[in-house]
Amino acid sequence: MKKKVCVIGAGPSGITAAKNLLDEGHTVQVYDYGHEVGGNWVFSDKPSHSSVFETTHIISSKTLSQYDDFPLPDDYPDYPSHQQLAAYFQNYARHFGLYPHIQFNILVKKCELAPDGSWMVTTERDGVSTTERFDALAVCNGHHWKPRYPEYPGTFSGKLMHSHDVKRFSDFAGKRVLVIGGGNSACDVAVESCRVSALTEISWRRGYWIVPKFIMGKPSDTVGGLLRFVPNWLWRKITSQMIKTIQGNNSAYGLPEPEDDFGFHHPTVNSELFYFMRHGKIKPRPDIDHYEGNTVVFKDGSKQEYDVVVACTGYYISHPFFDTSLINYSEGEVPLYLKMLHPTIQNIYFIGLFQPLGCIWPGAELQSKIMARELSGQWKRPSNTNKLAIDEVRHPDFQQIKTPRHTITVNYHAFRKRLLKELPPDYIRKLSVVPVGRKD
Ligand SMILES: Cc1cc2nc3c(=O)[nH]c(=O)nc-3n(C[C@H](O)[C@H](O)[C@H](O)COP(=O)(O)OP(=O)(O)OC[C@H]3O[C@@H](n4cnc5c(N)ncnc54)[C@H](O)[C@@H]3O)c2cc1C
Ligand SMILES: NC(=O)c1ccc[n+]([C@@H]2O[C@H](COP(=O)([O-])OP(=O)(O)OC[C@H]3O[C@@H](n4cnc5c(N)ncnc54)[C@H](OP(=O)(O)O)[C@@H]3O)[C@@H](O)[C@H]2O)c1
Repeated sequence: MKKKVCVIGAGPSGITAAKNLLDEGHTVQVYDYGHEVGGNWVFSDKPSHSSVFETTHIISSKTLSQYDDFPLPDDYPDYPSHQQLAAYFQNYARHFGLYPHIQFNILVKKCELAPDGSWMVTTERDGVSTTERFDALAVCNGHHWKPRYPEYPGTFSGKLMHSHDVKRFSDFAGKRVLVIGGGNSACDVAVESCRVSALTEISWRRGYWIVPKFIMGKPSDTVGGLLRFVPNWLWRKITSQMIKTIQGNNSAYGLPEPEDDFGFHHPTVNSELFYFMRHGKIKPRPDIDHYEGNTVVFKDGSKQEYDVVVACTGYYISHPFFDTSLINYSEGEVPLYLKMLHPTIQNIYFIGLFQPLGCIWPGAELQSKIMARELSGQWKRPSNTNKLAIDEVRHPDFQQIKTPRHTITVNYHAFRKRLLKELPPDYIRKLSVVPVGRKD
């Protein structure tokens, strides 16, 4: 039962897909339109797939951000930099002999189902198109690269950009900058901007929980992980209380309070936002009402002139190589069982298409193992995948506010548990409870 599999993307999800498919003896062809392994973590000064800034460090901590098969180096800090992560992913690819299976600078243009059920994959390089047949498709093209812009009445006459295109903060030196959003990009951009800008302000349309990077000297996600055995509602209450005890209310910083307990939105992890607000370096603003030239008018009637507006308003899920009548997850629900199995098309696997409260690639690794085992006949999906996919949408790990960024959320620990249940017991025993390499 050896299959010929096309893997789209050589980011953290694509490389673990390739590694685990090769482990099961499948023939693997990875295509990536970039020039190196690492996806989002391959920083570039030029516009590219990557959305990281020159200063990005991860927000999911080291112990929870490593492949089970390949621990992060011992000398890496709790929150490695984007350079360290890129090196880690490239070392993974070298260690497991993946490079000969990857073709770079190749864009996957089109994936079509042939009448016999196989996939016809059309790629393009230097304007030349090639089509090849594959038994199965592993879709690992990432979901943080196609910018979602907000729309307001009027036109902003200064520079309007998206966080995807923020590269170096020297571009903001001496400028008046407005940052839109309360997610991790917004808070990172505000903090870095305020070090060099003439003015940095941040506009939130609602209240968010801001989690410090460390609690009692430990990375916050590992502290949160200690509570993974308590019911969700209690975990949310305890976490909310803990954050309030450490930082106080948002109103102490001039920001709106969160509408619900922790977990109602994707967590924002940042230890410097509040610090800089209380040093007068970042000023809070409410939601935007409209633009008037280089002036932004806010919903409370206040206004301010800016040179730059940075929309840190998230990303669309996008699979431009599929006919939208076949697959389109850019709006609304994403009904995939285990966030990877399509209800009706058996030979397509989405790897990494989920948003954990934690790190993506350990879950992508487990998904890849399940995919590889199914393709070699060692694992069989349930016959009611369709129903299970719908159940998963109806009963998410967290009830979150219904905004576009919250369609694929999972609880890191609960999701890993569900994936591990589909793998042989010896694999689970080998891992015990925590990922290999964990020290604390
Ligand atoms: C600033 C920032 C910080 C982040 N920090 C964290 C963090 O701390 N922890 C965490 O878990 N996640 C974080 N993320 C989320 C990030 O998406 C994941 O870390 C990770 O990169 C996902 O891996 P992936 O392989 O699924 O996707 P990507 O890393 O996006 O890789 C996708 C790959 O597919 C290739 N590709 C895409 N389309 C095509 C095509 N049509 N043809 C050929 N190749 C294609 C791309 O070139 C790329 O190499 C962060 C995201 C951002 C933007
Ligand atoms: N250092 C890091 O590791 C780091 C840095 C950046 C990003 N990331 C990761 O990258 C991913 C993307 O993060 P992101 O921050 O770019 O996007 P995001 O999580 O989707 O956050 C977008 C933010 O913009 C707001 N927003 C969206 N549309 C808006 C509108 N029309 N008007 C006003 N506000 C609007 C959202 O508010 P609502 O909640 O109301 O929708 C949210 O606060 C996440 O997984 C994140 O953890 C990590």
